[in-house]
Amino acid sequence: MDTRQFEPIVEMTNVGLAYGDNPPVLKNIDFAFRRGSIHFLTGKSGAGKTSLLSMLYLAQKPTEGTLKVFGNNVSMTDRDTLSFLRRRIGVVFQDFRLLEHLSVFDNVALPLRLRGMKEKEIRHRVIELLAWVELSDNMYTKSSEISGGEKQRAAIARAVINRPELLLADEPTGNVDSDIAAKLMKLFAELNRLGTTVVIATHSNELMERYNYPRLKLENGGLSYVK
Ligand SMILES: Nc1ncnc2c1ncn2[C@@H]1O[C@H](COP(=O)(O)OP(=O)(O)OP(=O)(O)O)[C@@H](O)[C@H]1O
Ligand SMILES: [Mg+2]
Repeated sequence: MDTRQFEPIVEMTNVGLAYGDNPPVLKNIDFAFRRGSIHFLTGKSGAGKTSLLSMLYLAQKPTEGTLKVFGNNVSMTDRDTLSFLRRRIGVVFQDFRLLEHLSVFDNVALPLRLRGMKEKEIRHRVIELLAWVELSDNMYTKSSEISGGEKQRAAIARAVINRPELLLADEPTGNVDSDIAAKLMKLFAELNRLGTTVVIATHSNELMERYNYPRLKLENGGLSYVK
């Protein structure tokens, strides 16, 4: 029997993070994300949500403790392996980070091109997903020339096009109206149903009350469940 399927997708043991000589932003975090789970990550502005996510998407290593992602201790993993692992993670950045000189289509197609998928299959998949997030009309617009809410949807499409094992979304509904937000939440729920582990960072009590997913809160550097 392959026991790896029972291993948590992310495992943090006594994890801490400090920027330079500043006091730590995150401290003594002991938590594991079970494969297939879905969580909200909350906490006030500056509590460390984006910092925690940045460790989970392997952009920075903990300065204390042990972080395992897909069973790999990230502190002992070389750069090439980390960038390979990163392809299994979809990220919606708080500030979108689209490649501004590329069209919406090309931004969303990027993860599939990196995987070497055939252009015909790419077109099929990207067109379908862009229709779903209501960006068909902007498909060939340069991403520097679309609105904030449109950028958010393009960033979400790019993050999910690859059906990642782990999806990390940082305030993914902060810039869209409530109809679109509901649609995006439905997309996350559907991916989760298909097996993707999902973490959604949000300030929005309204969002958390509407979707009754377990909530994790960052406070004073620590992480715990809230009722
Ligand atoms: N690159 C960095 N260098 C130094 N300090 C940083 C850096 N990034 C974040 N911080 C600090 O870490 C703390 C947590 O920031 P972070 O962005 O993780 O919070 P957040 O919970 O995502 O906030 P928000 O809800 O406003 O997005 C803040 O005090 C911030 O100033
Ligand atoms: Mg943040």
